[in-house]
Amino acid sequence: MQISILSISIATLFYIAFFILAYGLVSKILQYKNTPAPLKIPTMPAPTTQAGVVLRMTKEVVLFTSLFKSSKATWLFGWLFHFGLFLDMLRHLRYFIDPVWVWVVLIQPFGKYGSILMLVGLVGLLTRRIIVDRVRYISSPSDHLMLVLLICITSTGMAMSFYLGVDVISVKSFFIGLMTLDIQNIPADPILVSHLIMVASLMIIFPYSKLLHAPGLFFSPSINQVDNARDKRHLAKWAEDLEKN
Ligand code: HEM
Repeated sequence: MQISILSISIATLFYIAFFILAYGLVSKILQYKNTPAPLKIPTMPAPTTQAGVVLRMTKEVVLFTSLFKSSKATWLFGWLFHFGLFLDMLRHLRYFIDPVWVWVVLIQPFGKYGSILMLVGLVGLLTRRIIVDRVRYISSPSDHLMLVLLICITSTGMAMSFYLGVDVISVKSFFIGLMTLDIQNIPADPILVSHLIMVASLMIIFPYSKLLHAPGLFFSPSINQVDNARDKRHLAKWAEDLEKN
């Protein structure tokens, strides 16, 4: 079978994007891990046990509790987008696994309609950046660009899913082929190709942009610290080493 130039180009782009994403994520996470947290600064009221911290973190990840306290509108649109994204990424798993697990089959319609939540959330977040004066004042071009990129990925995906259709079997063989180093042809569909080029761009930008707040949350001392400063002396790693010498 003759492999098209388009397929080879998209395959190369995805290999590069994957390595940049993996390298960027690992190096940034190591940097976060090794950044000293010299002070006890959990945001009050804070949990006094480790189990309490796990609960606090879980609520933060699932419900975005601190965002809820600071801005109801941002919370609503942010949560809608992330919840829709979560459902739709589970739906996308079908392109990467064979056979497809039963629960991935069952989640398909939820993922498809989750895309509507994504779009509502993203349009809401972009509108907020444009119409709220103090938010517009502190927004940089990259804040807008991230949202526009995500809106374009979501709308090209929805165009395929709801209106135009696409040869999902070939898309799947292409991605399974990428993972097994056996490049297959990708359909020369302009909407699919633009969806994929934008997804690869997102993978490249992700570790070097504000989108890295996802893993960053777990390293935030104001959320991950136990409020036990009166029971246990808090010493950063470097201060411990200084004390030993
Ligand atoms: C390599 C990764 C990806 C591949 C191969 C891929 C492929 C596709 C395909 C083929 C469709 C059309 C589905 C259909 O007609 O039923 C689609 C839809 C969609 N994609 Fe992607 N996509 C990828 C990553 C992403 C990412 C990262 C996002 C979001 C940031 C995204 C958002 C969407 C949305 C919102 C839809 C419409 C809802 C749906 O059918 O799932 N995609 N994608």
